[in-house]
Amino acid sequence: MKKQVVLYKKLSPLLMARLHEHTDVTLIDSLDAEGLGKLRDALPRAHGLLGASLKLDAELLDLAPNLEAIASVSVGVDNYDIDYLTERRILLSNTPDVLTETTADTGFALILATARRVVELANMVRDGQWTRNIGPAHFGSDVHGKTLGIIGMGRIGEALAQRGHFGFGMPVIYHSNSPKPAVEKRFNAQYRSLNDLLQQADFICLTLPLTAETEGLIGAEEFALMRPESIFINISRGKVVHEAALVQALRSGQIRAAGLDVFEREPLNLDSPLLQLNNVVATPHMGSATHETREAMARCAVDNLLAALAGKRPENLVNIQVWKA
Ligand code: DGY
Repeated sequence: MKKQVVLYKKLSPLLMARLHEHTDVTLIDSLDAEGLGKLRDALPRAHGLLGASLKLDAELLDLAPNLEAIASVSVGVDNYDIDYLTERRILLSNTPDVLTETTADTGFALILATARRVVELANMVRDGQWTRNIGPAHFGSDVHGKTLGIIGMGRIGEALAQRGHFGFGMPVIYHSNSPKPAVEKRFNAQYRSLNDLLQQADFICLTLPLTAETEGLIGAEEFALMRPESIFINISRGKVVHEAALVQALRSGQIRAAGLDVFEREPLNLDSPLLQLNNVVATPHMGSATHETREAMARCAVDNLLAALAGKRPENLVNIQVWKA
């Protein structure tokens, strides 16, 4: 008998066909109240789950006694209680690697957009405000040659370092759990303590996962260490930053600008003070959102799920303890 899979994310016809070949699929095509009701109804028969952008807490997963595997279409796994999953021996997999370059592209898009004021000035043209040659009031700041500071030197951090070093001639400094000699060699990067990095970098880029240790890592004290010309970029998770402190730092001129793809609460509310600031470029958590990369992520998640349901170790297993056990 085929295993039961509950999808809470639409897949391409090709991937749907692949899943249908091996499993019985229930598709929950939206995560509104009605969709969540359908999900609850489907959970009791689910052996596998595949989707993204949903907090799958114990209350929901207790409805799924037969659950063997969850394939998350994301690299971040902050929507899951890993200890709970491990205790229940549910295999959790994610989709690293395939989104690295695209997410680093988004980081650089935000670096360029904030430094060169791309959104603000493009809107000026659109609003008919370009009536004479622009002057210093509209000038931005250079990106090339400036110091790129990366907090969290994982795959995406490395891809940012590569762009900064080879593409823009930027000195790279970074902070992570421990120094990374290979990265230092490839990108001529230098390790810094967090405080030193905050004081020295022109661009401060967050690429950390959200964990109990990183939640709220950047707050008022950290913004106070940055310089008035610093630009803050967040492509990791909103909750790594105290958003109120960020707003205060931007309003007071403690930092120059922020490029933000992630927020404490998503979608970002229209009444967020961040949206009243010209020196903020806010994007809708689009780090990996290209046709090619989202398809590659979905393919990776399908592979992970089918492997797990066939009793094989998924390539991107997160809670390897379950497999060892
Ligand atoms: C990820 O893959 O974790 C991206 O941030 C999308 O959630």
